[in-house]
Amino acid sequence: MNKAIQAVRGMNDLLPDAVARWQYAEATARAVFDAYGYREIRLPVVERTELFARSIGEHTDIVEKEMYTFEDRNGDRLTLRPEGTAGCVRAGIESGLLHNQVQRLWYAGPMFRHERPQKGRYRQFHQIGAEVFGLHGPDIDAELILLNARLWRALGLTDLELEVNSLGAPAARAAYREKLVGYLRARVDELDEDSRRRLDSNPLRVLDSKNPAMQDVIAGAPNLLEHLDAPSRDHFEGLRALLDAAGVRYRVNPRLVRGLDYYTRTVYEWTTDRLGAQATVCAGGRYDGLVELLGGKTTPAIGFALGMERLVELLAQAPAEEADRTEVYVAAAAAEAAHDALRLAEGLRDRGVRVEWHCGGGSLKSQLKRADRSGARYAVLLGTGEAAVVKDLRGREGQVERARAELEDYLMTHLRAASGEGRTG
Ligand code: HAM
Repeated sequence: MNKAIQAVRGMNDLLPDAVARWQYAEATARAVFDAYGYREIRLPVVERTELFARSIGEHTDIVEKEMYTFEDRNGDRLTLRPEGTAGCVRAGIESGLLHNQVQRLWYAGPMFRHERPQKGRYRQFHQIGAEVFGLHGPDIDAELILLNARLWRALGLTDLELEVNSLGAPAARAAYREKLVGYLRARVDELDEDSRRRLDSNPLRVLDSKNPAMQDVIAGAPNLLEHLDAPSRDHFEGLRALLDAAGVRYRVNPRLVRGLDYYTRTVYEWTTDRLGAQATVCAGGRYDGLVELLGGKTTPAIGFALGMERLVELLAQAPAEEADRTEVYVAAAAAEAAHDALRLAEGLRDRGVRVEWHCGGGSLKSQLKRADRSGARYAVLLGTGEAAVVKDLRGREGQVERARAELEDYLMTHLRAASGEGRTG
């Protein structure tokens, strides 16, 4: 026997039993986006490497260590997208969607990062995200957070916690960065290896370290929120007032810095304590400089992305798992009945019934076994004579005989009655 080929590490199959929950989450997200007037955009999975290097930042973990980059047959350097924002901005500029316009866009799809796989962290993972262009906020910042909160409610999630922060405008952040570096250099002996490496390239990320040994240094660091420029401070106060007015609970976390360089002002994360180390389900923020950085006209922008694997992990069973089951299983015990069986199956499907047709013959017993396994409510067995047997596999109706010509109407009547029972009972 040949050796079986296995999937690439960190890249998972989504088997049919799991897909129902994904579809439920996706359909719910789509409905919420509709309710807020967001339109879907579909973007390539592969982009030029330079797009990510320039937008996410040369000195971020993603660009330094995690990208799937390759040369194609023309010698172009390409990368499997590690996130959706850069491609969305690229497409917006290229198609003229951004200049002097307001755009509310959303997307869904696979992203790729060569991280160390563990629960909640994969090398191919899936995001649903939104990007809004042309609005300065903070009203739009609040809208995105309310949209997130509505999605959690619609999915029955009650325990996600919101953290917000402001990174300020680039000039104020640069001044803060210098101050922070001064502080960290004075305590360099207490820094771990990672933080020492970041001291020159990306010192704000030191604040994000989860290393317990670093917490003392971090606690003593200058507070980012105390170094905001005045317009950014007003913006942040405005956002807080809107969230308060809408009754959204949040925690201000001055050490929330995010791992991508394009952010300005508002950043936020929704976290849970139900997923262990990979606690962030959804994250986003404002990136007012990115459109210009990528060659467009200055355009304010903000967005978020949620991790589908993490979100789905939090969901209890999706209602769709029950609703999508086969309703009728049609089998023919005799070869000459197969034509009638096929016509019956198609006739029922014309009327909106979910039907599984037994293919592959076999004994009556094995056909019934398959019918039972399908989860169908009714099994219909067409034999040699005119009559067929209808067996109620789930309820109390037992087994009845009906003429072939009556089967369709009989089943329609009983299925409607059964679904009525389901609703009231
Ligand atoms: P991010 O924080 O890198 O932001 O990713 C957003 C979310 O994607 C995370 O909170 C997490 O739920 C999920 N995620 C990230 N990496 C992995 C992984 N390796 N395995 C499983 N899930 C993962 C962004 O990607 C930004 N583009 C968000 C954004 C949009 N900001 C503005 N607009």
